[in-house]
Amino acid sequence: MKIFSAILLLCCVHALSAAPILILNGTVVTSEGSHPGWDVLIEDGKIAMVGPKVEPIPRDARIIDASGKYVMPGGIDPHTHLEMPFMGQEACDDFKSGQEAALAGGTTMHIDFALPVNGDLAAGFELYKKKSAKSVMDFGFHMAVTAWNDQVAEDMSTLAKLGINSFKFFLAYKGALMVTDEEFQQGLQQCKKIGAVAMVHAENGDAVANGQKAMIEKGIVGPEGHALSRPAVLEGEATGRAIKLAKYVNTPLYVVHVMSIDAMEEVAKARREGQRVIGEAVASGITQDESKMWDPDFKIAAQFVMSPPIRSKEHQGALIHGLVDESLTIIATDHAVFNSTQKAKGKPPQADFRTLPNGVNGIEERMHVTWDVLVNSGRISPSAYVSITSAEAAKVFNIFPQKGHIAPGSDADVIIFDPTVEHTISATTHHSRMDTNIYEGYTMKGKVVTTISQGNIVWENEKLNTVEGAGRYIKMEPFGYLFDELDKLEPAPKPYGPTPVPRDYGSSENKDEL
Ligand code: URP
Ligand code: ZN
Ligand code: ZN
Ligand code: ZN
Repeated sequence: MKIFSAILLLCCVHALSAAPILILNGTVVTSEGSHPGWDVLIEDGKIAMVGPKVEPIPRDARIIDASGKYVMPGGIDPHTHLEMPFMGQEACDDFKSGQEAALAGGTTMHIDFALPVNGDLAAGFELYKKKSAKSVMDFGFHMAVTAWNDQVAEDMSTLAKLGINSFKFFLAYKGALMVTDEEFQQGLQQCKKIGAVAMVHAENGDAVANGQKAMIEKGIVGPEGHALSRPAVLEGEATGRAIKLAKYVNTPLYVVHVMSIDAMEEVAKARREGQRVIGEAVASGITQDESKMWDPDFKIAAQFVMSPPIRSKEHQGALIHGLVDESLTIIATDHAVFNSTQKAKGKPPQADFRTLPNGVNGIEERMHVTWDVLVNSGRISPSAYVSITSAEAAKVFNIFPQKGHIAPGSDADVIIFDPTVEHTISATTHHSRMDTNIYEGYTMKGKVVTTISQGNIVWENEKLNTVEGAGRYIKMEPFGYLFDELDKLEPAPKPYGPTPVPRDYGSSENKDEL
């Protein structure tokens, strides 16, 4: 039996004291639709009123004219790794720098993957509580499960009561985070019991290890070896396997960072059949292609190394289409940044791609590039954009409509987005600690001009105004909507169900007669 201390519920020194904010005449967009010419009143950290005309206007309200602009829920990035220890390095964005980058890019909440300490979930939770104490915006945690025993199962139950309603299992990273199918299946059973969403990193870790060996034997030691050693078929195989195991257990499954047609088709097929499977795209997957890993400059090539790898333009196009046809319903980032010195740990001739820390940036860029790829191109509506960038994640992780919505009572995490502003992404102007940016030179129309977090203006006129420690841990209750009526999907017990057939086997004394 372990003692978990109750999570930091930091006192909010500022949120309730801020003056009311009245946003006038914007196009208010939620996952339910768009409302041109509406007003939004924010008071005491919450949305107080929304509608065609908000009255009476509080005397001390700060008034923002949003004519010609969109007013949307702040983004929720459900897949980040701030200050993550990984492959012998620690991700260089911490909970302050990563979150400031997020706020500058219109994301007001993220869900980070807490990692266990030597397989110990409770110790992992304690560690991530400490790391997150410097938070400047709201956040939650998923917890990774990297080993299996009774204590892990018990800790999962305890964590579910402390606000963690999702657990990630890695079918890759052999010798490090990877679990066996047996462990994964135990984990799925436990997730089902406690009402937590099982999440999976789906690549066949054994085959990847063989693929890596094969590349080294061919003398392919640079970043391109990373891509070549873990082809799409291995992602498709593991995704299909994970989905089938989740079906066998009858529990919801969330497939993180879908990067290939192969994996996406598995997700789409399961969804068509009515299985509770969520597919997550990431910003890098819909904007980048593998060619950069072949760049002759190691520093450039190394930036693009992540797992599963960024793939060909064909896969990239298919993932975009998957967000349009709702095979994939959430766009995240997998923001896990290792700077050029850290990436050089995998630089030949001293080393090879196997020790190159995996991960790319995106927490600041996601809201922008997703708008560009999907809304500027006319592929989806602003309302669908809200769904994939915030509302659906809030629903899956059971914090809707507190987050991901603009309605009375929702948290005042709001962005004002000007669709006419042209801008270019660059490492010289971004807010992450990363020294490079995979979106370097990306020019687009549409920009987050104001970010409001907990009712406070934290990004305006290209400037951040944050308070260290102001970020709150958001508890996420188990048994979200993916569990509704789940028992109806249990295999029918008749006629060949799991009950013993009443047969006369004779008594054990007669067994010599056989
Ligand atoms: O390359 C990646 N994706 N790094 C972060 C760890 C993970 O697998 O999500
Ligand atoms: Zn606060
Ligand atoms: Zn992963
Ligand atoms: Zn990740």
